[in-house]
Order: sequence, then C-alpha cells, then structure tokens
Amino acid sequence: MIDKKTVETILSKVIYPGFAKSIIDFGFVKHISVADNKIEIHLDIPSSAPQIEAQLKEEIRKRLALPENVQCHIDITKPKMPKETSSHGKNVLPGIQNFIMVSSGKGGVGKSTTSVNLAIALAQQGKRVGLLDVDIYGPNIPRMMGIEDRQPVFLGNKIKPIIAHHVQVMSIGSLIAKDASLIWKGAMVTQAIEQMLKDILWNKLDILLFDMPPGTGDAQLALAQNLPVTAGVCVTTPQKVALDDTVRSMDMFNQLHIPIAGIVENMSGFICPDSGKEYDIFGKGTTKPLAEQYHTQILGEVPIEPAIREGGDSGLPITVLAPHCETSKRYQSIAARIWEFVLKINEEGGVDNKKIQPTVF
Ligand SMILES: Nc1ncnc2c1ncn2[C@@H]1O[C@H](COP(=O)(O)OP(=O)(O)O)[C@@H](O)[C@H]1O
Ligand SMILES: [Mg+2]
Repeated sequence: MIDKKTVETILSKVIYPGFAKSIIDFGFVKHISVADNKIEIHLDIPSSAPQIEAQLKEEIRKRLALPENVQCHIDITKPKMPKETSSHGKNVLPGIQNFIMVSSGKGGVGKSTTSVNLAIALAQQGKRVGLLDVDIYGPNIPRMMGIEDRQPVFLGNKIKPIIAHHVQVMSIGSLIAKDASLIWKGAMVTQAIEQMLKDILWNKLDILLFDMPPGTGDAQLALAQNLPVTAGVCVTTPQKVALDDTVRSMDMFNQLHIPIAGIVENMSGFICPDSGKEYDIFGKGTTKPLAEQYHTQILGEVPIEPAIREGGDSGLPITVLAPHCETSKRYQSIAARIWEFVLKINEEGGVDNKKIQPTVF
C-alpha cells in the first residue's frame, strides 16, 4: 500500500495549470490521509474555473496510478466567484483606481524598461501614475528611474513613494540594502508583497503599474489575490524562444481572470540612427499569431535602440530625454491604447478576450 510520504512526493510533481510551480510548492495541498485502501486529499486553490479542478483531479489520479481496490477521494475547495476585475472587485487600496500587471515569461526581454517608459508616458498624458517594482529577484526600477541614491521617507511604519519624472515610485530595491543578496522562498515573496501593499502611502492614483518578476509564480498570485487587477500587459521579444514563454504568461492571466490588454513586442527591429531605415533583427511581427490565439491585440512594437538602454542605465528614460523621437512616440501610443482598454474595462465591468479583435500593424 502507498504511504502518505509517497502521495506527497507524487503531488509535488503536479504543476498548477498556468503556473510554473507544483500544488505542493504553492501550499495548495491542505490534507493527505492514507488508511485502509483509502486515500483522501484536500486542496484549496485560488481559481473557481471548473476546468482547473477537473484538470487537477485527472492529473493527480493519473500520477497516483492506484490499483482498483484503492479508493481515492480528492476534495477541492475553490473561491465562490471568479476573481472580479476593477469595476466591481474589492479593492484593498481604494485610492487607486486601476492596476496593471506588466509581465513576461522570461527575464531580459525589457519588462522593466517598458514599465518605466509606459508609466512616464501615462503621466505625460495627464494621468496620476504609480510604479511598483515587484521584481524582488532583480529590482532595477530605482536605477532606471534615477532614484538609486534616494531614501524613501518613513511616516511611522508607513513609507512614502519617491516621485521621479512625475511618477510615484516604490521598489523593494529601495527598501533593502544595496547588493544584499536575498534568497526568497515562496511564502516570503507573498508576505513581502502583501506587506508592501499595506505599507506604501500612495497619493490618489488613476493607475498603478506593477513591474513583475519574470515567469509565473508567487508574486503574480499574491497580487491577484489581494487586488482586483484591471489588466495584464505582456512584454515579449520576437524570438521564438521568448514567445514560448509568453504563452505561459498569457495562460496565467487567463487563469487568474485578468483581462489581457495586449502584447508589447520589444526589441522589434532596429532603426538606424544615421539613415532612419528600419532593420529586422530578431524577426518582427512574430507575436501577431499569439495575439490572435489569445484574442488580444499587439499594443505596439518598440525597436532596439541604444538610447533606450542608455536611458535605463542613466536614470533618464528615453520618454524623458527625447519625448518626441520615434521610439517615445511608440511608447505614447502603447500607453494610450492601454488607457483605452482600462476605460473599456471600467465601463463594461470586464472584457471577454474572445471578443477583442487583434490589431494588425
Ligand atoms: N528596445 C530596447 N532597445 C535597447 N535596449 C533595450 C530595449 N529594451 C530593453 N533594453 C535593454 O535590455 C536590458 C534588459 O531590459 P530590462 O527592462 O531590464 O528587462 P527585464 O525587466 O525584462 O528583465 C536592459 O539593459 C535594457 O536597457
Ligand atoms: Mg526587470
């Protein structure tokens, strides 16, 4: 007869659909008992989607591969309603109207660069904008926003965000010692994020952008469980490998009931500064089929541009340094599209990603 430890080991191989971690690692397995040819398993999961429950049950049964005389009862607790979006969801930060999660399947695709320039572009368009760096593994928003040497002001045990380029900014990087190498375990990530949400004194905001760690894990789940995330933005590069990871990000948004505002195709072509001619380097336009598959739009294409990297390194993003150049215009147009999407969500109380027509450039 199979024992409890073996059941646990088997469950540690069951990946939670749409994410990169197992149901054991996420802490969704609440109870396992094994007695007299009878196994009982209790899970508590954050999704109310019936297909997730069905998928998990099937996967668990398949992996356990029990003989016929062993009974197995799998009980799954789910939230009653699907996660709500901004217009009718509970909001633990009522002074903030909209939350945008900027995600990517892998690191280095330009998620932080995009978050920074979009936050600035939205502020330039008159919105009250916040930017929260949730990338606990590599918080580089302080450097990109030029606030590396500024200390946040504490009021009691609350923290005031730092204002840079008309954006209210806070980063876990501003709160931990520079170069401290922290090893984050799942529960610590969740706790750190919940703490940040409670302790930052944002002024009234129209929109708060989250620069997420790469991939799909605890940080994404922690935010979705604490806030009604208005929309998700996926950043990818046109290479095939990056696109494979992007699929995981999109699946995660769907699974968390976060409407997908669209995809930003970053490092899409190179505009030669001398001739103004555009060259294709990683392959342009490869994200279009992905957008179609997920019934969403391509928000825009951002070229590879040395000034973008220099801007990030120097704390003066391109949208600040050269607000009228072609690349800044692209960020402006992406920001405007995101805002349009946000308005739509607020008016309609939700968006069905099956109905959005993909944009063709
Ligand atoms: N469109 C671009 N053109 C040139 N450099 C870019 C572009 N997008 C990002 N970079 C550079 O690529 C590196 C990785 O970008 P970053 O935003 O830190 O990625 P991520 O947050 O996804 O890990 C940075 O040095 C950044 O300046
Ligand atoms: Mg980053």
